[in-house]
Amino acid sequence: MTRVELVEVGPRDGLQIIPQFVPTATKIALIRALVGAGFKRMELGSFVSPKAVPQMADMDEVIAQLGPLPGVRGMTLVPNSIGAKRAMAAGITDLIFVISMSNSHNRSNVRRDTEASIADLRSMLAEVDPDGRLKLRIGIATTFHCPFEGVMDEGKVFATIERIVALRDGLELALSDTTGMALPDHVKRFSRRCLDAFGTRARFCFHGHDTAGYGIANVLAAFEAGITSFDGAVAGLGGCPFAPGATGNIASEDLVTLFSRMGVETGIDIDRLLAAGDIAASLPGAVTSGHARAIPRARLLGNGVPLTDAA
Ligand code: COA
Ligand code: ZN
Repeated sequence: MTRVELVEVGPRDGLQIIPQFVPTATKIALIRALVGAGFKRMELGSFVSPKAVPQMADMDEVIAQLGPLPGVRGMTLVPNSIGAKRAMAAGITDLIFVISMSNSHNRSNVRRDTEASIADLRSMLAEVDPDGRLKLRIGIATTFHCPFEGVMDEGKVFATIERIVALRDGLELALSDTTGMALPDHVKRFSRRCLDAFGTRARFCFHGHDTAGYGIANVLAAFEAGITSFDGAVAGLGGCPFAPGATGNIASEDLVTLFSRMGVETGIDIDRLLAAGDIAASLPGAVTSGHARAIPRARLLGNGVPLTDAA
């Protein structure tokens, strides 16, 4: 049976857009519920400037109170060396650094051009990880579409990715549809191009949003191109505060039900994920999205009828 890796990003990409502060204990309860659902890899939050993203101001306490999560790779987003040092002091060794392919979105997100962010990444690695011990994911924001510049030039994005891949071997690059406006043919063509060119030196995954309703189509497009790792957020929470108009991440529940019905193993318990989704949906200010949660649970779980259509 084919297997995909589903990475839960709700505790970071999902929560960061919620205006009301989510108490530390609730963040921890949500993360624990998601671990219980079977995620082996999760974005736990971000060590960013609390002025830029107030929701993440308690990240140090979240990680300290959470304690170790055996068998789970907990990742945190860091925008600079300050964030990387905070993460490492908290015992986190899986870091995410975001670079937007469009200057406009990169400026909106981290107040500098794309080129400056590549230089920042290089100096951050030299400062905090000269021996290459950290596991590093680069979020390739606005790979396909930018809220300010529209559809991205594939040749230019490819050339920028080539330079990022060259920084060190073994990076993971998350091809990201930050705005949820990418078209599936673009996702498929560009994912395949990246895998063909850099697949032996870097790992690629797909991070999508569902603004225009193409989220699941884009996941399938990336899957058909050969990508086997996908980000989703519980209850379809999410959105980038620095990308106007972008709505929620692709719902993890939709990813699980899609792949399960195709006979592709995800390792996630849909019933426990739906229960975690109830926590997410009950957060004041949370906007949920996705389809699976709207289907009556008994029917979604098969209602006595096998869910897999693969036979
Ligand atoms: N953690 C905590 N505090 C931080 C920090 C971090 N990682 N990075 C910077 N700061 C603090 C600085 O110490 C400084 O504090 P002070 O005003 O008390 O002196 C303040 O934030 C401003 O620092 P500066 O280096 O001037 O940053 P900036 O204002 O130009 O902002 C970023 C740049 C990258 C730090 C900020 O835009 C950011 O954190 N962005 C995160 C964006 C994000 O999470 N986007 C969503 C995901 S893609
Ligand atoms: Zn996102």
